Amino acid sequence: MCGIVAGIAQRNVVPILLEGLKRLEYRGYDSAGLAVVNDKQIFRKRELGKVKGLETLLSQDPIKGHLGIAHTRWATHGKPSTENAHPHISQDNVAVVHNGIIENHEQLRTELKQYGFRFTSETDTEVIVHKIAEFLQNGLSFVQAVKNTVAILNGAYALGVIYSLDPDSLIACRRGSPLVIGVGIGEFFIASDIAALLPVTRRFIFLEEGDLAVLKIDAVVIYDKNDAIVSRPIVESQLKADAVEKGQYRHYMLKEIYEQSWAISETLEGRFLDKQLLDSAFGHNAGLVFDQIKSVQILACGTSYHAGLVARYWFETLGRVPCNIEVASEFRYRNPVITPDTLVVTISQSGETADTLAALLEAKRLGVKHALAICNVPESSLVRASDLVLLTRAGPEIGVASTKAFTSQLVALLMLVVAVGRRFGMSPALEQEVVSELFTVPGNIEKVLKLDASIELLSQRFADKHNALFLGRGTHYPIALEGALKLKEISYIHAEAYPAGELKHGPLALIDAEMPVVTVAPNDYLLEKLKSNIQEVSARGGQLIVFMDEALGESDEENIQIIKMPSVSHIISPIIYTIPLQLLAYHVAVLKGTDVDQPRNLAKSVTVE
Ligand code: AGP
Repeated sequence: MCGIVAGIAQRNVVPILLEGLKRLEYRGYDSAGLAVVNDKQIFRKRELGKVKGLETLLSQDPIKGHLGIAHTRWATHGKPSTENAHPHISQDNVAVVHNGIIENHEQLRTELKQYGFRFTSETDTEVIVHKIAEFLQNGLSFVQAVKNTVAILNGAYALGVIYSLDPDSLIACRRGSPLVIGVGIGEFFIASDIAALLPVTRRFIFLEEGDLAVLKIDAVVIYDKNDAIVSRPIVESQLKADAVEKGQYRHYMLKEIYEQSWAISETLEGRFLDKQLLDSAFGHNAGLVFDQIKSVQILACGTSYHAGLVARYWFETLGRVPCNIEVASEFRYRNPVITPDTLVVTISQSGETADTLAALLEAKRLGVKHALAICNVPESSLVRASDLVLLTRAGPEIGVASTKAFTSQLVALLMLVVAVGRRFGMSPALEQEVVSELFTVPGNIEKVLKLDASIELLSQRFADKHNALFLGRGTHYPIALEGALKLKEISYIHAEAYPAGELKHGPLALIDAEMPVVTVAPNDYLLEKLKSNIQEVSARGGQLIVFMDEALGESDEENIQIIKMPSVSHIISPIIYTIPLQLLAYHVAVLKGTDVDQPRNLAKSVTVE
């Protein structure tokens, strides 16, 4: 999704903005641009494609300035093109970068055209810059012009604004889209996330909804949504600048797959006392909240939704806790029935997913009293909007395809199942078993990673395929869904997942020698049922790849290739069986030569609807 970096400093900000844009590349984008104020004029460069292209353009025809804004655009209104790339300029003196969607842009565009403003792009953003220019023409100050403009915008925005006739001010504001201020020494920056600014500062101010900040070289003034001057705390980030670097790995995704045992150990760390899960791991009053709730409603999108699907099985099977789950983008518009004593659990890597945030607000509007976020970004909007939080500590996830965030979410959810389940009658023995199993996850992941070379070999069977089917049952059906999502998003092979029991109700018609069928078959109570499903596919000439417990001693048959997995308990097997599917998708994508970390059309952080 769009990324913003901007700054005001005593030095030339262009190299800092370019480095910041590179660090935001993982968010997904299709064009990049930058504008600076120099000698009371605005200079701008924009380029379709990668930040590298913009960098080349700038090396051929350099611009510099102590005040500048920069942007990576992920097209929403108008195709990817240089004309649609940000920054957008009005009257040669105001420039804007924007992340979000302006819903009333058509009406504003019509009005502005009537007043004589000429539009040069198809974007919703361009109305913002013309509107600011219009207020400036009417004699308003720079700050007031921006304030008046955002007051008439419907929709979501994070903005960076510069005005060449006020070269000592950078204005930043946000509503519905993330924006953070980086506090330097004698300089200030803004960015869509802190990763962009780690080379220049570790000190950050997180703007609240509706905040508008005026940044000067030596001071920042923040107005809240009621136009009162407020002070926001400066937070020191613990992240190191190299936390977002690839290191020895060819792709971020591979690095992140290999970081999973570490990420899970971190997520477990400090949350148990003598192997007893602490309620306080979820927040100050968590115990009191858990005592009151009668059911759980999970809301999430994409991979995080798949984590929630596994958790629903766990909540009901292990914890006997009534649990519903819904894709956030559906929940928010369905006018669902939900009782105040429901615990709403949102799951999100980024904590900025617009649909998940909106679904949470909808649940609150419907009277829900308690919300718990499982999230990987401590300062995110979702965390700030939730009373209880369990942070996954997976570290920054840069690859668009979520890997370590997913398995860390599963671990966090299993902890939540214990904390809530013991109020619903989960026996102390079962609680102890779950906790002991949780601590075996990192070691078992290490074992599975040893299969990497054989999975790379296996990936060759997929390179010329156009379709693939994934099967699982019980908690492993969502793992099949996740395996299919991974394969489709990075290799562009059409992949679908089914609960294996559904095969004969339709998908069996798809089976032929050209359709690889990946099956997740751990040693659980559904194994015998699943074996029958495997035979149904094999009998019809389907080519099966079956991930199976080594202790079962099964070996390859005609049409059936067995990949032996370490023996693990059914409680943690969904986490462990995820790993080979991630590796498979990764190696297929590498073979196909796709852009593994930034697959086409996708964004890491989906901050618009
Ligand atoms: C995962 O591989 C995806 N790229 C995507 O489905 C993602 O999980 C989804 O957009 C939700 O993101 P979140 O976890 O940051 O809310």
